Amino acid sequence: MEYILYEQKDAVGVLTINREKALNALNSQVLDELSEALDAVDLATVRCLILTGAGEKSFVAGADIGEMSTLTKAEGEAFGKKGNDVFLKLENFPVPVIAAINGFALGGGCEISMSCDIRICSDNAMFGQPEVGLGITPGFGGTQRLARIVGPGMAKQLIYTARNIKADEALRIGLVNAVYPQAELMDEAMKLASTIAGNAPIAVRNCKKAINEGLQVSIDEAVVIEEKLFGDCFESYDQKEGMANFLRKKDDPAKVKKVAFKNE
Ligand code: CAA
Repeated sequence: MEYILYEQKDAVGVLTINREKALNALNSQVLDELSEALDAVDLATVRCLILTGAGEKSFVAGADIGEMSTLTKAEGEAFGKKGNDVFLKLENFPVPVIAAINGFALGGGCEISMSCDIRICSDNAMFGQPEVGLGITPGFGGTQRLARIVGPGMAKQLIYTARNIKADEALRIGLVNAVYPQAELMDEAMKLASTIAGNAPIAVRNCKKAINEGLQVSIDEAVVIEEKLFGDCFESYDQKEGMANFLRKKDDPAKVKKVAFKNE
């Protein structure tokens, strides 16, 4: 692949959008390669993914403006669908995805980060939906996910004004969970991913599904989704061993050790 790097460290996969000369802007090729890279992740061994951008300046500076500049209406709609399809794949990816935002996250860059489960960023990060300044709407989910994450009032203000915000403001409005010095960002992302990867994998996947699917429906339907995914954990090795470990601890604290969950 030309624009996507992938490496696996233990149970954590790291996907890097690698188009540094264009500040990792998303053209059709980057989107196609990202989709292929997600399909290729070894879900038997990977329990958490990190998504980041190459270099120290930009996570993703948006969809590719050069490519979009000559699109017809139909092509514009198709380009929106291409981005949305990949971002939905990311949002529904079976294991959690952490966006490690290492600089600009503008337009499609902010949107791709919002398709991830968790966003953390470096202190030089900058967020925004500048589309209305370019004569378009956010087209890769921004009008939908930003409102769900920071609330409709704040989302509308950011989108209508096309104003960029810095990391501290993104933290204040709940767009990111934490801000770190640039040099520490990937270590912190890896620590977070490793903590997640150390927990029971079937349970973690089911939590992701329950939260994502439950947010789309009424609370009455949502709790039924939760019940099924809760029930689904029982009789697994991980549930039996996780609970047995707790009970052993009650008998004799010396017997407790970290459970080696097996994903089964
Ligand atoms: N598309 C294509 N190329 C881009 C790009 C983008 N979104 N963002 C940056 N680049 C390219 C620049 O054209 C430049 O290329 P050249 O060296 O070949 O000229 C290179 O990346 C470096 O960029 P700058 O010289 O502009 O760097 P800077 O430090 O002066 O500015 C910046 C950085 C503020 C991020 C500026 O590049 C910028 O404003 N980029 C566009 C941001 C934007 O508007 N994003 C939203 C796009 S629309 C969208 O995403 C729609 C959607 O929802 C799907």
